[in-house]
Amino acid sequence: MCGIIGYVGNKEAYPVLLQGLHRLEYRGYDSAGVALIQDDIINIHKRQGKVSELEEYCIDRDISGHTGIAHTRWATHGEPNDVNAHPHFSSDKKMALIHNGIIENYQLLKTELINRGHEFASETDTEVLVHLVDDIKRNENVELAEAVRLALTQVVGTYAIIVISVEDPHTLVVARKGSPLIIGFGQNEFYVASDGSAIVEYTDKVVYLNDEEIAILTEGDDIHVKTIKNKVIPHYVETLEMSLNQLEKSGYEHFMLKEIFEQPRSIADSMRGRLNSAKEIVSLGGIIEYENHLLNARRIIIVACGTSYHAGLVAEYMLEDLVRIPVEVEYASEFRYRNPIIYSDDVVIAISQSGETADTLAAVELAKQKGATVLGICNVVGSSIARATHAGSYTHAGPEIGVASTKAFTAQVTVLTLMALCLAKRKGKIAKQKYTHIIHELENIPKRVEEIFKLDTHIKEIASYIKNFNNALYLGRNYNYPVALEGALKLKEISYIHAEGYPAAEMKHGPIALIDEDMPVVVIATIKGTYDKVVSNIQEVKSRKGKIISIVTEGDTVVKGLSDYIIEIPETEEMFVPLLATIPLQLLAYHVAIMRGKNVDQPRNLAKSVTVE
Ligand code: AGP
Ligand code: GLU
Repeated sequence: MCGIIGYVGNKEAYPVLLQGLHRLEYRGYDSAGVALIQDDIINIHKRQGKVSELEEYCIDRDISGHTGIAHTRWATHGEPNDVNAHPHFSSDKKMALIHNGIIENYQLLKTELINRGHEFASETDTEVLVHLVDDIKRNENVELAEAVRLALTQVVGTYAIIVISVEDPHTLVVARKGSPLIIGFGQNEFYVASDGSAIVEYTDKVVYLNDEEIAILTEGDDIHVKTIKNKVIPHYVETLEMSLNQLEKSGYEHFMLKEIFEQPRSIADSMRGRLNSAKEIVSLGGIIEYENHLLNARRIIIVACGTSYHAGLVAEYMLEDLVRIPVEVEYASEFRYRNPIIYSDDVVIAISQSGETADTLAAVELAKQKGATVLGICNVVGSSIARATHAGSYTHAGPEIGVASTKAFTAQVTVLTLMALCLAKRKGKIAKQKYTHIIHELENIPKRVEEIFKLDTHIKEIASYIKNFNNALYLGRNYNYPVALEGALKLKEISYIHAEGYPAAEMKHGPIALIDEDMPVVVIATIKGTYDKVVSNIQEVKSRKGKIISIVTEGDTVVKGLSDYIIEIPETEEMFVPLLATIPLQLLAYHVAIMRGKNVDQPRNLAKSVTVE
């Protein structure tokens, strides 16, 4: 997701735009750009890198003008560079547009526009939109706002856009669907932004545009709002009531909490354009040309670190169970130094949120040198690992600012699930009925995650119990073993409690010696194949006075009767339990860390991206 801001009025626009970009930079920082109308031309200045680099670049350039737009990018289509940076021009440079979102059908639209003589400078989906608006404005001979409306009727995907034109030098045309957009009212001036943090010092009178609505903002005129279907609708001015600090986190206390609560959207975004439940089609465009390599692979080797390694473990269970291909999951740091045997018909999958983890990048290079096919599952477009792999799929989770990885994990597991389903279908390894059921259940996961958020208060109570201990054990079996590891990592890395994750059965081979009344044991005990075995493990803990916090399937009574605390999560397919069971463990870790007075977003000794060995 990126940050957009626009201004039209009696002030110089550039200072407003630049300040707004700094406020919105947390939404994405691959590149930044500004477009300003000066007399009858549009000046665009844009650079790869942070807003500060754009600021430096603009020092001796023409930044005058009272109408302008600006953008700080989180790339989804087209690497972060100067050309792919927003704003994007129309062919005649008389129109400029900025965009937050994904135009899913941009390739189709681009082909049609090229056939009509349009030439494109960038690889982005966004540039297609400004050419489409311009094409319609010319050919239908309509006003700017109408051209925008007609163009958006052809678009599939998400957007928050601001369009300016030299033919309407005192107007911003804005629209949104699936991406946020707020309009601020000044004295004969309008402000538009992705969120209130960019405009809060200028006004507290705002309108929140709704999905599929367009607004025409002309200096000296009132706002005009209509739907994409051309229905004029009223607007409601609200009062922006948030402190500046809070706004940058969209009202959340910490980025980590914001990112935990973003997961229904980020999980949905990681499926967007890849899962069509109506047609029962699953496809990962980024790796489609390597599907046969995967189907014919001697082995799949997954290399990753930390939370991404845990996502790889979930994938191991899924791929072996559904696709019947041998899978090995390796810590990248170990893999790269142990002179591993790698065959040319191996497929190596590197998982990395940042796409910059040094050990994972080195593992990718080693695998390539040994002739394997190497694919990437990254969250940062154009990152080193994304560029080093033969192909890959982005998780589209949006920037993850909190050092403790949350939404990236569930997005990684979602993309890996799509990969497993796609391969299982191709290999004919999954019965149609099961495939249909699983696809529809996967589509429901974001809603089930929303349900779990209702447990936050209860989870906070459990956190007030756990915060007093200095050790904790997390146990799980099968798909819940990686969940136990991930839950333990979350707790230890932000609360500094020494937490360990173990396969539940493994406890008897040593860790059970740790069990006493000073050892809280978190057990993921959702009802599925190994349930009875986990119940036995819980009884073994209980008989040694261990305190038991259980994650169970809604309605469970057996484990409930054995536990000191329980957290009930919605029932789902066994392979999807990691997507649900991880959520309460993220919240548990967050609340414990807060209660212990820790810096949740920047825990001691840690960095968001470990670019050193
Ligand atoms: C997880 O909460 C940690 N921040 C850390 O383990 C992280 O997952 C690991 O460093 C890997 O990072 P990557 O996904 O960016 O490669
Ligand atoms: N899809 C657009 C691009 O990649 C916008 C990305 C965003 O919203 O961050 O440039």
